Amino acid sequence: MPEEGASGAGWRSVAAQPRALPPLPSADKRWRIVSTALRRLGQRPHGLIEGMHAVQEAFGYLEPAALRYLADALGVPLAKVFGVATFYHHFQLRPPGAHTCVVCLGTACHLRGGPAILAALGTAHGVKPGGTTPGGELSVAVARCIGTCSLAPAVVLDGAIVGGMSPEAVLERVSGWFAGPGEDLPR
Ligand code: FES
Repeated sequence: MPEEGASGAGWRSVAAQPRALPPLPSADKRWRIVSTALRRLGQRPHGLIEGMHAVQEAFGYLEPAALRYLADALGVPLAKVFGVATFYHHFQLRPPGAHTCVVCLGTACHLRGGPAILAALGTAHGVKPGGTTPGGELSVAVARCIGTCSLAPAVVLDGAIVGGMSPEAVLERVSGWFAGPGEDLPR
């Protein structure tokens, strides 16, 4: 810890120096985007949440190496970084699936069958909310109203809102994302 002089100027002059960022976890260029974001945040512990957002936006999830990097870069204990990452459902600790299905469970969609859609996905593909199918084809998430209540029950398939869904209709829509052996996954 820097020593403060009688005037306190010593502390201020040292504190104003930016921390050196740790080495990037890999040569992946997306880390440069993340490190730029961390510099903008001042490389301080209070930037942890926003730093996590920056990593997840760049990579889609927070891998262990990313959490270690954030801990080193922001001066936060690694245990705390893991704690924050697991506390907020928004943060993904595993790679997302190739496709996403967000099931709305807001009031209107809940009343008109949203839970049945979610259950059907779980039964047919063995995936729970916040999870990804074992083969990585599909990630399922839930939302609390996506703003299209007149279309309830609504889902968001790869970013596109689709309303008036039934469990069968959703299963039909996602079926093409599960390719047979040797086939490429359609996107
Ligand atoms: S409750 Fe589902 S869109 Fe509003």
